Amino acid sequence: MSDVMRYDGAPARRVAALGDTAEMADQRRRVIELLAPREGWRVLDVGCGPGHLAMELADAVGPRGRVCGVDVSDEMLALAARRDLELVRVADTALPFEDGSFDAAVATQVYEFVADLPGALAELLRVLRPGGRALILDTDWDSVVWHSSDRERMEQVLDGWRARVADPCLPRSLSRRLREAGFELLDRSTYAILDVEGREHSYSARQIEHLGASALDVAPEQVRAWAEDLRALARSGDYFFSVNRYLFLVGKPRY
Ligand SMILES: C[S@@+](CC[C@H](N)C(=O)[O-])C[C@H]1O[C@@H](n2cnc3c(N)ncnc32)[C@H](O)[C@@H]1O
Repeated sequence: MSDVMRYDGAPARRVAALGDTAEMADQRRRVIELLAPREGWRVLDVGCGPGHLAMELADAVGPRGRVCGVDVSDEMLALAARRDLELVRVADTALPFEDGSFDAAVATQVYEFVADLPGALAELLRVLRPGGRALILDTDWDSVVWHSSDRERMEQVLDGWRARVADPCLPRSLSRRLREAGFELLDRSTYAILDVEGREHSYSARQIEHLGASALDVAPEQVRAWAEDLRALARSGDYFFSVNRYLFLVGKPRY
């Protein structure tokens, strides 16, 4: 069986908690600003997770618009259902929509977990109308800078997390892969998350839970010591975390 992260049960709840942080709210503002959805648009959220972004997109397109979230995880869809959204469960990369059904789409922190990226991108292109656009955001997990008293242990935990991601460095090859799939590249940018305090409800403090619980081949006592060290650094004013997201705005050619 594949080691790639599956977002059921506890991981789904942890991602929902990450979505509630100020950093993720700011990231979503950036995604919506770049996508620039218009009132009345039909928008698809691929891998919608707990539905934060889909809800905000629904506000942006207004009552004449339509936002549909799809996900492979029943637990994620159950969390998203609390938000009164149109939701569809998918089995893999196939999207159950007619050609050209959407004016725009988003996929944030999703494709790095998808093994069949060419299949997923082909489906994304198909369901967009000619001239439609998509905003794709993924993390390069080699970009994490996380201060620790034990660098070797930090690398073990990060390696254990990277082993749960289908392509932990996806942004590096994504331009080429988007072009190969038939998209036009409209804009590329970065979004950095920086946390120099490690407060309890911050994105990185919540990532201590999520990465720690998900890291492959790291003993629980090692994970506990790693987490305690980070919290001690936060208490002593010596906390530092940063990670880079990469945003790709692409268009479907009009032919
Ligand atoms: C890290 S979460 C991100 C959730 C949300 N997009 C966000 O930015 O908070 C990854 C999500 O992608 C979903 N996912 C993974 N593979 C998928 C696929 N092939 N099609 C649709 N969703 C998928 C997972 O179930 C999970 O909900």
